[in-house]
Amino acid sequence: MIHVVALNPALDRTVILKEFNHDGVSRAKESMDLLGGKGFNVVRSLMTGEERPPFQIHSFLGGYIGDILRTFIDEKGMDARITNITGTTRICSVIVDEQRNEVHLINESGPAITQAEKDELYSSLLAQTKPGDYVIFSGSLPKGVEPEFYQTVIRTLEEKGAHCVLDSSGLPLEHGVQANPWLLKVNEHEFKELVSPGEKQIQSLETMVAEFDQAQNVMITLGKNGALAKFNHQLYQVELPAIEARNATASGDIFLGAFIKTMDQGAAVEEALQTANAYSLSNCLSWYPHINMEEVETFKPNIKVTRLRSS
Ligand SMILES: Nc1ncnc2c1ncn2[C@@H]1O[C@H](COP(=O)(O)OP(=O)(O)OP(=O)(O)O)[C@@H](O)[C@H]1O
Ligand SMILES: [Mg+2]
Repeated sequence: MIHVVALNPALDRTVILKEFNHDGVSRAKESMDLLGGKGFNVVRSLMTGEERPPFQIHSFLGGYIGDILRTFIDEKGMDARITNITGTTRICSVIVDEQRNEVHLINESGPAITQAEKDELYSSLLAQTKPGDYVIFSGSLPKGVEPEFYQTVIRTLEEKGAHCVLDSSGLPLEHGVQANPWLLKVNEHEFKELVSPGEKQIQSLETMVAEFDQAQNVMITLGKNGALAKFNHQLYQVELPAIEARNATASGDIFLGAFIKTMDQGAAVEEALQTANAYSLSNCLSWYPHINMEEVETFKPNIKVTRLRSS
């Protein structure tokens, strides 16, 4: 079972404009409402393709936006363990200006969570997680949830025999790695901020990854430059074919969902890295989060995974 902990969900509203008129009226060519927030983008990979792994999503929803998202969840037949909250779930807006080839993101911060709501989600997650399950902690923490939250939950679930995966930034990341999760997934900027905040980089990224010991395994995604990973002390490098990216938003989340789905099927790390990158490349080709399986299959053989040194 794969659990996805999505504490900061959102209604993602993408508005596609031929041209954005500053300080004036713009006409939408197309608009779209999607289940959003990092955790729900991870789930996108689990829902795509022929084989849907067993998964559960754990999230907070409230108010009229929460109601809309609940209907989306039901339509897709997702197993979601939702904690009802008194606040109203946020909307995140994506404004696409086709003429300038620009994407403007407006992320609202979302409602505050009460102690009782947080305790309810925590107890439910604990009760649902079994030894050997994957538990993905994705994104920032909502107001009202202390920065040590991921650390506390990861410690408890790792002790229970679960494989915890952390993808966050800032303080929740700094605290979260202290629980030594099974896997850390961050981008290059987040990794450097964690390992040597504010310092000039002297070592190569490869050496930094080789020496990193705050998580059992680690994956650093590098945008168009692919990824670096370390599993069981073996380093891997991923190189990608060049593409014309339209919008890379959510690529890291889609990468992570595809990676864990493939590992859950019993595949080797190399194959999971290849699949994960094929999914995220496909996502880069559209204006809004989307995976096209034909594109995934075309990209796969052109993604090069190389074993580097062992550390
Ligand atoms: N411009 C790009 N061209 C090609 N591939 C890309 C590009 N940007 C992202 N990718 C793909 O997506 C993966 C993840 O990207 P990235 O390192 O930007 O993640 P991220 O910063 O965690 O993203 P987010 O948090 O917004 O989901 C990369 O490893 C790569 O496969
Ligand atoms: Mg990311």
